[in-house]
Amino acid sequence: MTRVFSGVQPTGHLTLGNYLGAMRRWAEVDQYRADSLFCVVDLHALTVDHDPARVSRLSRQTATLLLAAGIDPAVCTLFLQSHVDEHTRLSYLLECVATDGEMRRMIQYKEKAARVRDRGGSVRLSLLTYPVLMAADILAYRADEVPVGEDQTQHVQLTRDLAERFNQRYGHTFVVPRATVPPVGARVMNLQNPGSKMGKSDRTGAGVVYLLDEPDVVRRKVMRAVTDSGRDVVYDTAGRPGVTNLLEILAACTGGNPESLADVHDTYGSLKEATAEAVVEVLRPLRERHRELCADPGQVEEVLRDGAEKARAVARPTVDAACRAIGLLPAA
Ligand code: TYM
Repeated sequence: MTRVFSGVQPTGHLTLGNYLGAMRRWAEVDQYRADSLFCVVDLHALTVDHDPARVSRLSRQTATLLLAAGIDPAVCTLFLQSHVDEHTRLSYLLECVATDGEMRRMIQYKEKAARVRDRGGSVRLSLLTYPVLMAADILAYRADEVPVGEDQTQHVQLTRDLAERFNQRYGHTFVVPRATVPPVGARVMNLQNPGSKMGKSDRTGAGVVYLLDEPDVVRRKVMRAVTDSGRDVVYDTAGRPGVTNLLEILAACTGGNPESLADVHDTYGSLKEATAEAVVEVLRPLRERHRELCADPGQVEEVLRDGAEKARAVARPTVDAACRAIGLLPAA
């Protein structure tokens, strides 16, 4: 059976981008057709300046939102990265096959490191080695597929390179995984700045739809989205990034095709209204289920405890095999 692994960082409130680019497919498709593991990657959240209490809070909230989005622990495994030591064990082994040049070439490293430096901060070493930990997340489970948004494909490519290099040097140990990206919604852009990705760590949040935003807030953010000069609704990523982003969001929410939706809406106003309503409707069941889950926090803790146990049982044999292959003696 195909194995799927994917993860999400608890570095901020989850966004419509996380949902359309990744989580929705995990819940609607992947968990039913593949042996799936989904992970709240809390160790990754420590690679930038962070408030410990906030990371704890967001880890719980992220897990709760994944359940609210329809992740079903009866058919898949949901857990926190830090609860399974195999991730950090394997990460170190992979650091011994990765090169610092490879790390410095990662687009996300360059962008995040530049942001830290602009604010006068120091870049943590763990930010540089972040993609190795991500590779360990995936390879420890011998995952075949990694469903992600477009921004993570470079990291998955690096994971493939490390798996191939390790296998070649030390004997076949890892499955070489591949990224799967949704046909629409793979790169949801910021509504106020359609040149950049809609991200959790946005400073103002004005162009970001958060999964827990009230319907009126969602409507306001979509209605105020920056559109382009011109009046006609045209699908054109380079020339009309604002309108194209709305068409993509509308298509992803309604299952339509972004290019044909351009013919349905004559004005920016009509496109924005349709998009706002579509987003509100997509998020409605998720918000309701989230409210129910918050009333019973014990349920989430139990899911995470069971999930960690299941995940450990899958990861341990592979990580033990990697240790032996690279030359480490097993503990007696
Ligand atoms: P993260 O936490 O930034 O995002 C989680 C998932 O959401 C997708 N995504 C988007 N998709 C479309 N449009 C957007 N605006 C958007 N923003 C985010 C991301 O592509 C991702 O699939 N490094 C990863 C977390 C990670 C991971 C892993 C993922 C750690 N280990 C192993 C897969 C496998 C990250 O920062 O995702």
